[in-house]
Amino acid sequence: MRAIRYDSYGDLSVLKMVEIADPRPGPGEVLVGLKAASAIPADWKVRSGMLQDMLPVTLPKIPGRDGAGIVLELGDGVDYASVGDAVCVVAQHAEDGTYAEKIVRDQDSIVAMPETLEFGEAASLMHAGICAWICLVETADLKADARILVHAGAGAIGGLAIQLAHHLGCHVTTTCRAANADYVTGMGADEVIAYDRDDFTAVEEPFDIVLDLMGGEVHRRSYDVLKRGGHMVCLRAAPFEDQSERYGVRISVPHIHDRKYAIEAVAKLARDGVFRPQVARRLPLAQASEAHRMMEAGKVSRGRIVLDIA
Ligand SMILES: NC(=O)c1ccc[n+]([C@@H]2O[C@H](COP(=O)([O-])OP(=O)(O)OC[C@H]3O[C@@H](n4cnc5c(N)ncnc54)[C@H](OP(=O)(O)O)[C@@H]3O)[C@@H](O)[C@H]2O)c1
Repeated sequence: MRAIRYDSYGDLSVLKMVEIADPRPGPGEVLVGLKAASAIPADWKVRSGMLQDMLPVTLPKIPGRDGAGIVLELGDGVDYASVGDAVCVVAQHAEDGTYAEKIVRDQDSIVAMPETLEFGEAASLMHAGICAWICLVETADLKADARILVHAGAGAIGGLAIQLAHHLGCHVTTTCRAANADYVTGMGADEVIAYDRDDFTAVEEPFDIVLDLMGGEVHRRSYDVLKRGGHMVCLRAAPFEDQSERYGVRISVPHIHDRKYAIEAVAKLARDGVFRPQVARRLPLAQASEAHRMMEAGKVSRGRIVLDIA
């Protein structure tokens, strides 16, 4: 099969298209023929070597956390899927990923692809959906009428977080570029603060929950808009200092796992029409380095770059 792989950490030039042997499914595993993968920010951060301490990988490494395709072969004892099923797959950074024509996954790391989606949309959904679901449902236990601030609402995770919080009956405020205001409103945001024009700390009423997908300076200033006793849920985007005690708030940095119940929850939300996948751009697998270049340059907005796999 063909795959995008790197043999050492480094810049874009380490990403190479290679021809390698097909993986074979063992007991409890399935072989999936991938139709699409998505490129997520951590793919380039891991590739560059900057996350070696936190997310070490075994080299050579095929990147890619999520994808979608067709089940080609079953290992012994598989009872979740049949040959020919359309499925979404997730892979951890430590494993070989989805920038490939085929992948072997444990049957607990696949889920039936929502019939409402095509392969590219499905590939864009899973990792961002799991992040939004773990942050807002599993970690924040978000309830109707809560006031939530979602930072980076025009990003892949932020967009799905807006959709989920809106669905749960919350009052949703989000930050994005002024040019993306209509886009985030269309996903369910009640109020929009343009980070390139306005200061989000100028809001009059503080929030119960802040979803911090930025870290750094945005994290530091977010304490000022959180109610005392409020909850800030953060993904590691840029380093930040925990000041929760000083402000009398709670901070959580959830671990993003891929347990079966989480991927099933995301697929169900898509099936129910709550999660509408956001695809920013489509490129052929051979142009994976262009996807990394765009992510590294901060040029990706309004969802994921999807890599189509012929
Ligand atoms: N386990 C973990 O710790 C974990 C897991 C998942 C993700 N993450 C991190 O979480 C971050 C978000 O992931 P993602 O996949 O959603 O990224 P993404 O799709 O690339 O989204 C980036 C978004 O950030 C927005 N943005 C840039 N500067 C901003 C600012 N000052 N205020 C508000 N928004 C701003 C941009 O909005 P505009 O387009 O409007 O400019 C852009 O849409 C990444 O850094 C990722 O590495 C960490």
